Amino acid sequence: MLILSFESSCDETSVAIASFHNGEKKVLANKTATQIAIHALYGGVVPEIAGRAHIEAISALTYAAFDEAGVSVSDIDAVAVTSEPGLIGALLVAVNYAKSFALAHDLPLIPVNHIRAHIAAVYYEYPDLKAPFFAMVASGGHTSLIDVKSPTEFITVGRTRDDAIGEAFDKVARVLGMPYPGGAEMDRLAGQGNPKAIRFPTAAMQDSLDFSFSGLKTAVINYINTARQKGEELVLSDIAASFTEAVLHAVITNLEKAKARYDFDTMVLAGGVAANSHLRRAVAEFCQKHKIRLCLPSLSYCGDNGAMIAAQGYYEFLAGKRADSSLNARPTVKGAN
Ligand code: KG4
Ligand code: ZN
Repeated sequence: MLILSFESSCDETSVAIASFHNGEKKVLANKTATQIAIHALYGGVVPEIAGRAHIEAISALTYAAFDEAGVSVSDIDAVAVTSEPGLIGALLVAVNYAKSFALAHDLPLIPVNHIRAHIAAVYYEYPDLKAPFFAMVASGGHTSLIDVKSPTEFITVGRTRDDAIGEAFDKVARVLGMPYPGGAEMDRLAGQGNPKAIRFPTAAMQDSLDFSFSGLKTAVINYINTARQKGEELVLSDIAASFTEAVLHAVITNLEKAKARYDFDTMVLAGGVAANSHLRRAVAEFCQKHKIRLCLPSLSYCGDNGAMIAAQGYYEFLAGKRADSSLNARPTVKGAN
């Protein structure tokens, strides 16, 4: 079957067409328009501007996706769309577009949870990956540890209590003077610095698998402000490397606890921050140590994209999930549940 999918939960508009035949999943088109340059002017995503930019982009991307896939509307079997979680005004653009498309062409409409979809992106590159497995989704808006029971049954066992990992990266980057979103630049800088140069604290969460990054973020920002006030020279690479080291410590501590509790033999690392080279290496080492199979998406499938919505949409479709024209967007939901 062919699925047409739409994503507009944050600052990327993306439209994809993917085919699912006899267990083979193939992306025929995955067209994304990023709004980064627009939001960079403000140092972060401005929700109203995001909504407007999605409206401007979505039709052209849909035409471009059909062109690239070389299929026509009559070939499409179902329409999938991110309906939760995300910025409400942003989500509504793709939700309404998908609803209209499905209604006009008499196609089934499948609502998709964005966090589930980040995990589903991995199925394209690991066709033999089968639930149950353990997943970590780390992005600009979410940091979740998830016990994936089946492609449509998820139990979120840990989440951030305040900032998401990507958000912490972006906020520290901003204080260091980098343009939004600074996550990727922090990654590059950290590679040139000494991770042991500065000891930044991470919140100890005892028995919980939850995360907290706001204390760490504040500690780094205070360090920077104090050094500036004293006129001391800031070694940006050391700050980036030491901050990253503290983030990795928090992640690996929780993964160790999760392994002890759930004893998984396969894990997925997904979401925009899964592009971070240091996180990829640290999680790969953790997996190697415990002989866990690690499934990591390639960089183009880490950030928000339409193809991941089609992949999760396929499984939701098989499980019988459908929406009608009353479908609404839900800005906040608890993880992937
Ligand atoms: O998944 P995503 O595209 O959007 C959300 O669902 O939030 O993730 C975007 C986030 C941003 O915070 C961005 O700075 C971060 O992913 N990011 C990175 C890297 N590449 C993107 N963070 C750290 N290192 C990277 N290499
Ligand atoms: Zn995302």
